[in-house]
Amino acid sequence: MQVVYTGADWKKYWLESLKSDKSIGLVPTMGALHEGHLDLVRKAKSKSDIVVVSIFVNPTQFNNQEDFDNYPTTINEDLDKLRNEYVDFVFMPNTETIYPEKPELSINFGALETVLEGAFRPGHFNGVGIIVSKLFNIIKPHMAFFGQKDLQQSSVIKRLVKDLSIDLQLVIVPTRREDDGLAMSSRNVRLSPAERSQALILINSLAKAKQELLDGMPWFEVQNQIKSDFEEMTLASLEYFELIHPERFTTYKDFDASQKSSICVAAYLGKIRLIDNLPIIP
Ligand code: PAF
Repeated sequence: MQVVYTGADWKKYWLESLKSDKSIGLVPTMGALHEGHLDLVRKAKSKSDIVVVSIFVNPTQFNNQEDFDNYPTTINEDLDKLRNEYVDFVFMPNTETIYPEKPELSINFGALETVLEGAFRPGHFNGVGIIVSKLFNIIKPHMAFFGQKDLQQSSVIKRLVKDLSIDLQLVIVPTRREDDGLAMSSRNVRLSPAERSQALILINSLAKAKQELLDGMPWFEVQNQIKSDFEEMTLASLEYFELIHPERFTTYKDFDASQKSSICVAAYLGKIRLIDNLPIIP
């Protein structure tokens, strides 16, 4: 496994790959790798000849400095995990390499960023759009792999690829969960044992709401009930719990079984913000 720090270094390998007509799969990450990331890597290995995993904690997508400062970094463990998966390249640039100066460009994803993550994390999708565009331009992958846990991020990136006619295929990989259902996230390691146990309210409330909707309960009743469930928790506080169209991210006022729909949730466990989602009609 080769660790590459700059675009110029990578370019030499990229030129080599052109000679042998090999396909390149990119797995963009911010490190602190868990089994969910490794699922992306395994999917990338199954679909491309050369797998590049990028590790870069992108400052421009954090709208909360404390969250950025405390974002877990486990570089040596990450490299061991990637070596065990026989990853070909790890692209690990530093901030100066990626941002020699602050970008003037900003990307506005329109209606997609006025709701949920976009509304609660102003500027977040601009930061994601910029870094993902940079990674696509530097690595020039044929395919890129993202996790379904960040559902709105996937929609934003699909839009980016479409609107800028970027020539690559996006592959969205299902959410990997712990045995008790909690969606894997790099932030989970920061939860105290008590927060970790209350964090189950995210997947439990999604599953409960899904069942109630399928049983015919009106959405406003389902949503109100989930809000009161959260109010009873001592360490969890709900940010949003919405029924949405999984690509357009428009929110529904009621459930319609003829329309694609997913439920999305964001909540704080103490100071740690977690998100999750569950498809109702895929
Ligand atoms: O999903 C993530 O880990 C990040 O948002 C990404 C796509 C690597 C961009 O920094």
